[in-house]
Amino acid sequence: MNKLIIALSSSVILALSLGNTVMADVGEDAYNSACASCHGAKGGTPILPTYPKLQGQNAAYTVKQIKDFQSGVRKDPTMNALVNLIIGKEQAVADYLAAQ
Ligand code: HEC
Repeated sequence: MNKLIIALSSSVILALSLGNTVMADVGEDAYNSACASCHGAKGGTPILPTYPKLQGQNAAYTVKQIKDFQSGVRKDPTMNALVNLIIGKEQAVADYLAAQ
């Protein structure tokens, strides 16, 4: 019984860590294809000084800004259009940026 529990918990831990790896790749790929051209590599070197840095930003804050741009609650002509390129990947992109 103990061996079964240990085996089960290791598979859960393995599944969780694999899950995180996959999420990081999804977020990184989406960020690099849709966002890095303005916000810079890993969100840390925006191409213009007026563009915000996203690197290390709290993930919950970033998700809220992305969703507010999607719904139009937060208005910026550029961002309102671009956030539609990452629908369904908001959390993954925010987690990727928070970890940089
Ligand atoms: C064409 C350039 C450009 C691209 C591409 C771009 N952004 Fe932006 N982003 C901006 C600008 C400019 C602002 C500032 C808008 C404002 O002041 O409201 C901004 C603001 C943001 C903010 C708000 C930051 C804060 O501190 O409140 C987030 C989050 C963000 N962008 C995420 C993204 C994501 C995710 C992508 C990819 C889907 C992306 N951006 C693609 C130009 C861009």
